[in-house]
Amino acid sequence: MEEAQMQRKTKSRKRRCFILILVIVIVVVCAVVLGLILQRTRDFKSVFTSRCVEYGGYDCEKTWSTFEQAYMGKDPCQVPPESYQALIEAAPIKPACNRMMFWSKTKDVVHDFTTKKECYVTMEDTFVGSLLDGLTWCSKEGSKDTFTSGCPGWSDCVNNTVRSFWNQASASFAQAACGKVSVMLNGSIAAPFSPGSIFASVEVKNFNPAKMEKLEVVLVTQETISNCSSTSLKNLQKELPQGIAFGCTEVPESRIEDCASQPDLPCGSCW
Ligand SMILES: *[C@@H]1O[C@H](CO)[C@@H](O)[C@H](O)[C@H]1NC(C)=O
Ligand SMILES: *[C@@H]1O[C@H](CO)[C@@H](O)[C@H](O)[C@H]1NC(C)=O
Ligand SMILES: *[C@@H]1O[C@H](CO)[C@@H](O)[C@H](O)[C@H]1NC(C)=O
Repeated sequence: MEEAQMQRKTKSRKRRCFILILVIVIVVVCAVVLGLILQRTRDFKSVFTSRCVEYGGYDCEKTWSTFEQAYMGKDPCQVPPESYQALIEAAPIKPACNRMMFWSKTKDVVHDFTTKKECYVTMEDTFVGSLLDGLTWCSKEGSKDTFTSGCPGWSDCVNNTVRSFWNQASASFAQAACGKVSVMLNGSIAAPFSPGSIFASVEVKNFNPAKMEKLEVVLVTQETISNCSSTSLKNLQKELPQGIAFGCTEVPESRIEDCASQPDLPCGSCW
């Protein structure tokens, strides 16, 4: 009788102990997950801020708070491009006549080139572009956090946090384009001028013929699937606002890489 009671007591103590451990484990896991989320928010802000400090010339706390207001507490699919207008007005694109470089489907080559040869400026080399290049961010309805994962992808919804930023910033970059303007397009694909790209759907539509004299296409070739006479390039020429001249040069990728790695060569002589 006593033995049976003792056994039952031990059993229930064991069970209570087990439940206690389970609760502790759950609490610890929750804390770690929450900590990671908060850490990520802080990491995002610290990447943003350190890029801002490195670029120089801007008040980084103020820039962060202007940026944050665009998307904080909003459904990440309900952030239209205009939300970033305040940020872009606070840090307007500085026009670099004859040196502005657009690109589509040539990201690695173009940035390798503009990093080594500072004579050309892409959207990602501007202040706002450099702050956010390669980053993903969003918030949630009613939230005060910035998340870097679980955000809608590029084509999940039109007005998503990241896409809207690039649309607004690119429109502003294109409006500032002046003199002779270059664009690096990909000759290894069938549609170098791709209708769904930011270049086609935003930038070309925002070029201003009052400031912009010519668009010079640098068609980067590896396997030559498209050349300067391809339909895709003809379409680009047709869609350019009236009054902007058009030129196109086919340049092998290897030549661009060689040229980028020769510091003495003037940029103009790369193609
Ligand atoms: C995206 O935002 C624009 C405002 O810039 C609005 O006109 C449009 O209806 C929105 N699209 C969707 C699918 O919510
Ligand atoms: C062009 O596109 C192809 C296919 O997506 C890619 O493999 C290649 O690296 C691109 N070329 C350049 C110069 O970016
Ligand atoms: C350009 O490509 C087209 C096919 O798209 C081809 O017929 C033409 O010969 C090519 N032109 C040159 C100069 O290589």
